[in-house]
Amino acid sequence: MAARRPLVVGNWKMHKGVAETAAFLEALLQADVPGSVEVVVCPPFTSLPHAAMLLTGSAVGLGAQNVHWEDHGAFTGEVAAPMLLELGVRWAIVGHSERRALFGETDDTVVRRAARAQAAGLDVILCIGETLAEREAGATLAVLERQIRGIGALDPAHLVLAYEPVWAIGTGRNATTEQAQEAHAELRRRLAGTFGAGPAQRLRILYGGSLKPANARELLAQADVDGGLIGGASLDVDSFCAIMRDAAESAAGVDS
Ligand code: 13P
Repeated sequence: MAARRPLVVGNWKMHKGVAETAAFLEALLQADVPGSVEVVVCPPFTSLPHAAMLLTGSAVGLGAQNVHWEDHGAFTGEVAAPMLLELGVRWAIVGHSERRALFGETDDTVVRRAARAQAAGLDVILCIGETLAEREAGATLAVLERQIRGIGALDPAHLVLAYEPVWAIGTGRNATTEQAQEAHAELRRRLAGTFGAGPAQRLRILYGGSLKPANARELLAQADVDGGLIGGASLDVDSFCAIMRDAAESAAGVDS
């Protein structure tokens, strides 16, 4: 089975203007980024141009936190994929639970955003995850299935899924290793049904939700957990680097 290269993504949410972005990235570029791990940071839109300049020629990738489904038009407050590509952005997050809960994103708009982003040349990190009420009602897998129903329209070679249980985001309460592995393995089974066994084996599924140095090693060691989408702990360069090293260790474990 092909080993999947771990992917560690920092989702900074609405944190770090240009000055703080520069300070973080200068420190990150001094740090030893393990070659076995792919690293991406997703600053707010306004910090992207400066981040792109600082990251030129480095191994650290740059992502946006959202992207629209059209290339231009009367969509106040939105940003289009070609605008991101022009800056040097190569990744976009879509469907984060904060977008779904606070800004009205639906499974349909999430897939439309993802499809346009891919068509323009971006790699997409598509977020899914159940609420606490849904988990307690035993509906976790049904919710995940509904959230990925439209992804057959997407290119699996330029897609990453991020399983982020809503109850674990920003709460300090991460999913257990068993909960994460169960959801990831089930997602991979569904991906095989949609894309075929080979593409499903190659597609990376990230875990997100209170991922931090204290729990990263055990979560990232799970067979179907291929990296992390990190909020709070990605804002501090030392904790972000510690998670990168844990991801590198999990990759070494797979290879040996
Ligand atoms: P936290 O790591 O702060 O829980 O956030 C996770 C997240 O939402 C990443 O997209």
